[in-house]
Amino acid sequence: MSSLQDARPKRSAAQRVTSIRRWTDTLWTLRIERPDGFRFQPGHYAKLGLPVDDADAVWRPYSIVSAPEDGELEFLFILIPDGALSSHMARLREGDRVMIELAAFGFFVETQLAPGDTLWMMATGTGLGPYVSLLRTPGALERYRDLVVVHSVREAAELAYADELRAHVAASGAAEQGRLRYVPIVTREPGATGLSGRIPQLLADGSLPRHAGATFDPASARVMVCGNPAFSKEMRQLLTERGFVPCRRSAAGSMLFENYW
Ligand SMILES: Cc1cc2nc3c(=O)[nH]c(=O)nc-3n(C[C@H](O)[C@H](O)[C@H](O)COP(=O)(O)OP(=O)(O)OC[C@H]3O[C@@H](n4cnc5c(N)ncnc54)[C@H](O)[C@@H]3O)c2cc1C
Ligand SMILES: NC(=O)c1ccc[n+]([C@@H]2O[C@H](COP(=O)([O-])OP(=O)(O)OC[C@H]3O[C@@H](n4cnc5c(N)ncnc54)[C@H](OP(=O)(O)O)[C@@H]3O)[C@@H](O)[C@H]2O)c1
Repeated sequence: MSSLQDARPKRSAAQRVTSIRRWTDTLWTLRIERPDGFRFQPGHYAKLGLPVDDADAVWRPYSIVSAPEDGELEFLFILIPDGALSSHMARLREGDRVMIELAAFGFFVETQLAPGDTLWMMATGTGLGPYVSLLRTPGALERYRDLVVVHSVREAAELAYADELRAHVAASGAAEQGRLRYVPIVTREPGATGLSGRIPQLLADGSLPRHAGATFDPASARVMVCGNPAFSKEMRQLLTERGFVPCRRSAAGSMLFENYW
């Protein structure tokens, strides 16, 4: 367990679960009451906790899916077999309470990137959450000409938020090719999506930029990568070889990463 997950919050509140949407038996969305004064930017995460077996509460970080102006907070969860917290989160019902630390955290914030023409938002599994938050935030991505969301999951049923993303695509413009493209990738059901194979491989052979009809060079493209740390590591290597540079405190870059474990 990382030190990030170990940290005990200084100030927390117990908030009511207002609704639950189950995408599969092991993947679900929770909405909870938003604590007064809780502020965040798209890309931030919250620390959520539950008392487990009468012991101290177990706390973990979760990316916020809702937009900053939403009156509730929304999160996307996957059940980790025997997971210390997710197995308890999976049993929550409407009206139950979840603890939340009264602060938002993180550096996976799009404004860290240098200005560019095309924003690639790449996710595996629950790493999609920050992008849904960004797309729900009016005006958040105005500075880009093109937007591409790439979501890789094992099975088609795990393409959470697909309908919402398709609605954003439809709202994003022209009948032929709008400003936003959504590229779902299913890796363990052959033929389920137009592209199959892992994201780094689809970038390396050029099929992903071709399929999306978007440029992928460091002069004009900006890339956000969120989810599985092995994916992140492979992406960092591939992007570095292509000339993309990381964001630093002192200088905006062309690539930004969030690792979930
Ligand atoms: C910044 C940040 C944001 C996060 N946002 C989310 C989120 O939005 N949704 C979410 O479900 N989790 C998210 N996580 C992971 C989350 O904090 C927990 O690690 C996860 O819920 C497992 O906790 P657990 O106690 O059930 O499992 P543990 O008993 O702690 O087991 C952890 C193991 O589960 C696997 N694992 C952990 N998280 C995931 C995941 N999301 N997808 C696939 N495998 C995973 C890894 O193998 C990891 O080593 C995030 C983590 C970080 C650091
Ligand atoms: N039915 C169940 O009980 C069930 C169902 C789903 C998940 N889970 C549990 O949830 C966790 C996994 O969740 P998840 O499926 O969301 O996460 P995941 O294992 O990270 O897989 C999500 C997507 O990321 C891809 N991926 C994995 N490693 C990659 C890499 N190095 N580079 C590029 N892409 C990569 C996967 O492709 P690949 O398919 O090629 O790996 C898949 O498309 C596990 O603990 C699992 O046991 C359980």
